[in-house]
Amino acid sequence: MAKYPEHRTAVVTGTGSERGIGRQVARRLAKEGWALALLDLDGDAVQSFAEELAAESAQPVLGMAADVVVPESVQAAFARMDAELPPVLALVNLAGIASPHTLFELSKEIWTRVMDVNATGTLLMMQAAARRMVDGGAGGRIVNTSSITAYDGGGTFSKTGYAGAKAAVLGLTRGAARELGPHGITCNALVPGPIDTDIMGGPLSEDRRAGLSGGIPVQRVGHPSEVAALVSFLLGEEAGFINGGSYFIDGGKHMV
Ligand SMILES: NC(=O)c1ccc[n+]([C@@H]2O[C@H](COP(=O)([O-])OP(=O)(O)OC[C@H]3O[C@@H](n4cnc5c(N)ncnc54)[C@H](O)[C@@H]3O)[C@@H](O)[C@H]2O)c1
Repeated sequence: MAKYPEHRTAVVTGTGSERGIGRQVARRLAKEGWALALLDLDGDAVQSFAEELAAESAQPVLGMAADVVVPESVQAAFARMDAELPPVLALVNLAGIASPHTLFELSKEIWTRVMDVNATGTLLMMQAAARRMVDGGAGGRIVNTSSITAYDGGGTFSKTGYAGAKAAVLGLTRGAARELGPHGITCNALVPGPIDTDIMGGPLSEDRRAGLSGGIPVQRVGHPSEVAALVSFLLGEEAGFINGGSYFIDGGKHMV
């Protein structure tokens, strides 16, 4: 089992939203000894969060405005990491957008945007991070984010376009897992069910929470910190034989 160098960086996208999964992941990884590069489209939000986390952490935390869909933006973020942080050994792709559009409402423009943020962004971030991991020779960990919607087709909020984009994330994950495995780099996908964040158009109303909970065997929605616990495990030194997998974190919703 390879030991991580003492100083190493995890890159986490989607860390701008205050109640999102990304911030819980960042908080947990900071406690576990990772220096952090936090990226989000909302530059002000991610930078103020990074300052807050840096003040309470023993590790450096760099917050950067970045659009994961734009190659130049991704390259600029990694250039700053190269200059200011320890080597990148982990990437957690959480930036994403939902789509409540039905098949007939899904214009080409909406479809392209949903695919871009969820799938193309995942690809561009993996290319930049994996290049550094391969060159560094110390292995690495990549965690991408799919959704239960890729399996069950979605429901009241996220529908066909999101299902297609999150299914693409599964394929990207498996392809990368095969190509990067020989370098000691693992690549896995999270498959969350409903998690209590604002991605479904703001905080869940009590009615909506009850409706969602009723379709889940554990009878509740998930908390972002529960997803952070899974990410922490997949990023660990002991997880080196877990590769190309898709991990439901959905209270058993996938069985219903
Ligand atoms: N919350 C859920 O129920 C749920 C379920 C399944 C999957 N997911 C997935 O989990 C991930 C995190 O979701 P969340 O619930 O924390 O959502 P969220 O809306 O709270 O956070 C998503 C973040 O991504 C950022 N973002 C969007 N487009 C971007 C871009 N082009 N470049 C950089 N950043 C961008 C947003 O600014 C936001 O901060 C997403 O990929 C989402 O699809 C969430």
